[in-house]
Amino acid sequence: MNLPNMADAKRRTKKEIKILYDDYNSDEYSELGKDKKYLILTYGCQMNVHDSENIAGIMEDVGYTRTEDMDEANVIIVNTCAIRENAHNKAEGMLGRIKHLKETKDITVIFCGCMAQEEKLVNKIVKNKWIDIICGTHNYHKIPEYIAKLNKEKNICEVYSMEGDVIENLPVTRDSLYTAWVNIQYGCDKFCTYCIVPYTRGKQRSRLSEDIINEVRELYNNGYSEVTLLGQNVNAYGKDFDNGYDFATLLGEVSQTGIPRIRFVTSHPWDFTDKMIEVISKCDNIMPYIHLPIQSGSDRILKLMGRKYTIKEYLELVKKIRDHIPNVSITTDIIVGFPGETEEDFEMTLDIVNKVKYDLAYTFIYSPRESTPAASMKDDTPLSVKKGRLARLNELINKYALESNQKMLNNTYNVLLIGESDKKNKFMGYTENMKLVNVKCDESYVGKIVPVKITDVKTWSLDGEINDR
Ligand code: 5AD
Ligand code: SF4
Repeated sequence: MNLPNMADAKRRTKKEIKILYDDYNSDEYSELGKDKKYLILTYGCQMNVHDSENIAGIMEDVGYTRTEDMDEANVIIVNTCAIRENAHNKAEGMLGRIKHLKETKDITVIFCGCMAQEEKLVNKIVKNKWIDIICGTHNYHKIPEYIAKLNKEKNICEVYSMEGDVIENLPVTRDSLYTAWVNIQYGCDKFCTYCIVPYTRGKQRSRLSEDIINEVRELYNNGYSEVTLLGQNVNAYGKDFDNGYDFATLLGEVSQTGIPRIRFVTSHPWDFTDKMIEVISKCDNIMPYIHLPIQSGSDRILKLMGRKYTIKEYLELVKKIRDHIPNVSITTDIIVGFPGETEEDFEMTLDIVNKVKYDLAYTFIYSPRESTPAASMKDDTPLSVKKGRLARLNELINKYALESNQKMLNNTYNVLLIGESDKKNKFMGYTENMKLVNVKCDESYVGKIVPVKITDVKTWSLDGEINDR
């Protein structure tokens, strides 16, 4: 048994990062899933969504077939998120349901992802014994080995609180045939004071550029039209190499593959270079969409958050981006109610939203996370006040989201259609600047980039029709 340890998870050494090309090996387990089904439940960010694509690839590699029906599953995998308390609550609610199910039939339950890296939580759930396998973010490629071991051991808990390696040879079953996630970097070394990610995902490790480019080339050859380069802090890509190869260089090389659309998330305002702006503005296949989390509009709070930029610097960056990248969408993340946030600090956040006029923003009430520095800061703002601030912020965000959509009305934009919409008889897709469009058309357009005229706009989406004239 290996239990998580938050002090170890915080440690960063000069240890060289290992890139492993043969660490995943399923030879012994090829019959493990014969005539059996797995179901995977995913919570959290794109990183988790993509990890689940790898876990699905692994399960299928050892013979399991996928099901979406809990009653049919032999193995249920819960891939969890730790970023805020409500992500915890959702996963814990689901575990309750699965526990009931396990009382009625023989199923293997696997608990993995970011929550599995949390020391206090795992110390608690490991005692319950009904979860068969607990494994963290560093070793899900060993799931087949753990399932096989269950014959001899009753419960397995293998969580590594280590800086981490890069494992290159994982199978993948992607959710889409048209758009793909491509990891460029794992982990994070920024240690923003509110954030648990550097503890749950380990040290920043960049993948080698040739491995990334080969993956993008292969996706393009297999008919994919769009890749999203993934990392907690993509613009710090390559800082762990010490050879000057940086994110701007990588973007330029990925662009050369010719794949029609390239996106990337998430950018930290701190590492965003002029060279990146230049490459994005020059390459037509790098999409004009930048997610640039600001977190707060108050310099005092930004300092307490450990964000290492000022509002003045952030605004200068936004101006540079807008001056050089036509039609760019800028979106953000904002936390309200960080410990010690005053009404005045919060009004500075409203002020910055009024200045930047974001296309969209993801807003959160601060949630204390285990072992993070902010969790021990004095926080005497009542929850009701925080909720009031969130509502005021959302109202403003929605106003600008609608305004930015209204500017698009009656114009025509290229949309990559990716699948059925929840609106009847419509298909959904995204413009280059990442606006969701529901398009009246037939299924034959799915997978294609088509000109769409915007016929109606809402706060969160656009309606449109194919404009092939
Ligand atoms: N509480 C609230 N929001 C958080 N985020 C990260 N940690 C916390 C926390 N402890 C938000 C940040 C980040 C986004 C992914 O989640 O805004 O950018
Ligand atoms: Fe968390 Fe900050 Fe790293 Fe983003 S950059 S994952 S907010 S520590």
